[in-house]
Amino acid sequence: MTAITIENLSKNYKKLKALDNLSLEIKKGETFGLLGVNGAGKSTIIKILCGLTQKSDGKVSVYGYNLEQDLDKIKEIINLSPQETAVANNLTVRENLCFFANVYHKNNEQYIDELVETFSLSGVLGQKAKTLSGGYKRRLSIAIALISQPKILFLDEPTLGLDVFARRELWQIMKKLKGKITIIITSHY
Ligand SMILES: Nc1ncnc2c1ncn2[C@@H]1O[C@H](COP(=O)(O)OP(=O)(O)OP(=O)(O)O)[C@@H](O)[C@H]1O
Ligand SMILES: [Mg+2]
Repeated sequence: MTAITIENLSKNYKKLKALDNLSLEIKKGETFGLLGVNGAGKSTIIKILCGLTQKSDGKVSVYGYNLEQDLDKIKEIINLSPQETAVANNLTVRENLCFFANVYHKNNEQYIDELVETFSLSGVLGQKAKTLSGGYKRRLSIAIALISQPKILFLDEPTLGLDVFARRELWQIMKKLKGKITIIITSHY
């Protein structure tokens, strides 16, 4: 079964053609990598799929929903860890997780504990997010994106700025997620 179908997708930022006639299909449960140089258009694809920017042309469907007509439905089943890691800096790790769990009405303690375990966050639960290292901030950002229990998870450059050890650890975490949900991941690596 198909999770995402993109047909002849184009995106222009004024005169700049960021995406030119892109077509692809991503299957449910697949981990799909978008590999490309700086400026290739990876983040643009993700932003379009998440409804954060509008396409110029083409057709996109997510779980059978049309991007333009059913964006609210699509937003219920996707989540994103953006390139510019999104966490609430003045909240602790625990507060971040609880805050977003409440935002999504998913205040399920057992599930939050599972995320803490998966992302090895137990040692930093009381630490303010702004004091975390880049690697831990990334883990928190991805854990937050999983709180809504999305069917599709977008990870935009999750290993950006991480050293080789932190990068490997993150790949291990992503291997744990593989097959459970559909993952679209961008990378230079
Ligand atoms: N809001 C914007 N306004 C104008 N141009 C933009 C905008 N966002 C992106 N672009 C341009 O579109 C092109 C694709 O950018 P995009 O951020 O999608 O690339 P990317 O593959 O994610 O790059 P990186 O690997 O550096 O993150 C680039 O040339 C970029 O400068
Ligand atoms: Mg990018």
